[in-house]
Amino acid sequence: MKTTDYSNIANKYDNNQYRIDEIRQDYDLKKYIDNNCKNEYHILDLSCGTGLYLEKQMKYFEGLNINWNALDASKEMLDMADKRLDKVTLIEAFAEEMPCHSETFDFISNNYAFHHYSLKEQALNEIYRVLIKGGVYKLHNITIHDMPKWWVYHYFPSAYYEDLKRYWNKDIIFNELAMRGFEVNLKVEYRMEKIKVADYLNHALNRDISVLTLINDRDYEEGLERIRYDLKINENKTILNDFAEMFCIAKKI
Ligand SMILES: C[S@@+](CC[C@H](N)C(=O)[O-])C[C@H]1O[C@@H](n2cnc3c(N)ncnc32)[C@H](O)[C@@H]1O
Repeated sequence: MKTTDYSNIANKYDNNQYRIDEIRQDYDLKKYIDNNCKNEYHILDLSCGTGLYLEKQMKYFEGLNINWNALDASKEMLDMADKRLDKVTLIEAFAEEMPCHSETFDFISNNYAFHHYSLKEQALNEIYRVLIKGGVYKLHNITIHDMPKWWVYHYFPSAYYEDLKRYWNKDIIFNELAMRGFEVNLKVEYRMEKIKVADYLNHALNRDISVLTLINDRDYEEGLERIRYDLKINENKTILNDFAEMFCIAKKI
């Protein structure tokens, strides 16, 4: 499978206001803390990117004795996380080979990153290893198999075929976690709606959606042309869009 070079798009990724606005308090983390009263917690944001998730969570959970950790394979993404975050241990490493002691973390968050791992089984072995017993791994991602009408695939059809090579479907994810000794609770939130194409042109132009970096430039330019053409014919054009997000809570038992 192809991989996205985040060193090239770290800036664009970090400046995408949509990503910043969509992050809320992590209620699964809150639930873990509420149900596991401890003097100290060790939390890892796996593939933390530029630190957008942690920045918000650190505010929401201020006052608790939490040791925050952020791991990413890209130095450029971590450099930005470093600027954004205070009092976080930054770890430049691959998820497939974490330089962390076994049974270290209470909770591992993993947002929009699992599809990037070339060695997914190995990453899961590592996640299992570094979690404490009773600890929680939260895998949050889009589920591309449930969203073939996503606007990205509508305008950039080759993106779907690239994504099929990278994403595991939810059955595989569930089974791979369960067979390693996790108790798994997986849910998918799905929505279908009409969207205004004009609202998405800038997203496409920013090209920080990873799959748009994997398709070739010609397919990308043709997709942009299709968007511009549709908007020229009708500036209020809408298309049917579907979107599905997976929230998978895996507890090490
Ligand atoms: C789409 S970004 C998500 C970043 C962040 N979690 C967020 O939600 O904003 C994917 C991140 O995964 C990282 N990544 C890709 N492959 C990785 C690997 N094998 N090990 C660790 N991190 C990886 C990339 O460097 C990038 O920062």
